[in-house]
Amino acid sequence: MDLSKMVRKNLADIKPYVPGKPIEEVERELGIKNVIKMAANENPLGPSPKSVSAIQDLAAKAQIYPDGNCYYLKDALSQHWEVSPNQLMVGNGSDELLKLIAETFLLPGDEVVIGQPSFSEYIFAAKLMDAECIFVPLKDFTHDLSAMAEKITDKTKLLFVCNPNNPTGTVVTKQEVDDLMEKVPDNVMVIFDEAYYEYVQNQEYPKTLDYVKQGRKNVIILRTFSKVYGLAGLRIGYGIAHPEVISWIKRTMEPFNVNNFAQAAALAGIKDQNHVRESVQLNEAGKKQIYRGLEERGLSYVPTEANFIFIKVGVSSKELFPAMLQRGVIVRSGDIFGNEDYIRLTVGTEEQNKRFFDALDDSLAGLKIK
Ligand SMILES: Cc1ncc(COP(=O)(O)O)c(C=O)c1O
Repeated sequence: MDLSKMVRKNLADIKPYVPGKPIEEVERELGIKNVIKMAANENPLGPSPKSVSAIQDLAAKAQIYPDGNCYYLKDALSQHWEVSPNQLMVGNGSDELLKLIAETFLLPGDEVVIGQPSFSEYIFAAKLMDAECIFVPLKDFTHDLSAMAEKITDKTKLLFVCNPNNPTGTVVTKQEVDDLMEKVPDNVMVIFDEAYYEYVQNQEYPKTLDYVKQGRKNVIILRTFSKVYGLAGLRIGYGIAHPEVISWIKRTMEPFNVNNFAQAAALAGIKDQNHVRESVQLNEAGKKQIYRGLEERGLSYVPTEANFIFIKVGVSSKELFPAMLQRGVIVRSGDIFGNEDYIRLTVGTEEQNKRFFDALDDSLAGLKIK
C-alpha cells in the first residue's frame, strides 16, 4: 500500500517544522548538565508570578472545558488596545491563527507573498492549502515592501510582513508600511506578524492597529503571549482585525482551541505590565552586553528590535551548532534560514550571555584549529 498516493499531494512538499532541541534531550544525549537554551526566543525571566499563581489556582479544575470565547481575556485585551472584543481572536499560539488564516482564505493555486528568510510557519500554512509561495529576498536583512508589492498578481491572497522579522530582528517603518498599504488591493490580506511587538524600541515602528481602527478589512495583526509574557509552553496568541474578518476566521476554529490555563495566565500577564517592562529592560541590557562582546571579537551582527540577534559567526553554523551544544549552549543554526555562516541567538540573562561567549570562544578556537 503506497500511502503517498493516498494523501493529499501537496503534503509531499511540506517539510516538518524542525524545532530547536529541547534542553532535556541535549542533556540526555550528551550526558551533560546545566544546558541553556538560547534558541527559541523565550523570555529568560519566565512568566509573571501572577500568571504562575493563576495557573496554580486552576489546577484542581482541570475537568472543566475552557471558555470557547475567551471572554475575560478578550475583555482585557479590548481595553488594553481600545478595540472591541469582536475585533479579537485568540488561538493556540499565533501558529494556530496562521494556519486558520490560511484555511480561511487560500485555495489551491492562490499566491502568498513572503519575505525570505522569515518565519517558516507562513510557508507551512500556504503549502498546507496547496497555495504557491512567492518569495521576496530581504534587503539589508529587512523586508523589502516595495519589491513585495510588485509581486502581487490577480492570484495573490495573502502577504506576510513579519515585523520584527524572525530571524533577522529588523523592522519596517511606518512610512514603508503606509506606502505598501496604498499599493495593496482590497482583495489581498496583509498579515502583520508582531510576535516581538513589545520589545521594539525603534520610534519609526508602525502602529498597524490604526489600520484596523480605521476600518480596513484587509489587515490582520498577530501578537503572542509566548515571547515577552513568557507563556510559550501554554500556547496562546491573538489576532486583531475587522469584525467581519474575525467572524470568517472563527468558522475554521475548533470549539475549545485555547485551554483554561493559557487564558488565565494570559489574563494575569496583561494585568502585570511591570513584568513586561522588566522583561524589556533585561532584554535591552542583554542586547548591549552581547553587542559589546561581539564587537570585542570582531564579529558582525544585525542590530535587533527583538529578543534575538542574527550573528555572523564566520564559520559554518552546521559545525558551530554541535560544538556549542557540547558546551551546553543551544543556539539556532543559520543554515536553516539559508545563511550558513550565521546563528540566531536569543538574548538571555547576564549570566547566560556570559556562558554563550565562553562556549563561543571555545568552539571557535576548536573549529579554527581544525
Ligand atoms: C515571528 C513569529 N511569529 C509567530 C511565532 C509563533 O508564536 P506562538 O508561540 O504564539 O505560536 C513565532 C515564534 O517563534 C515567531 O517568531
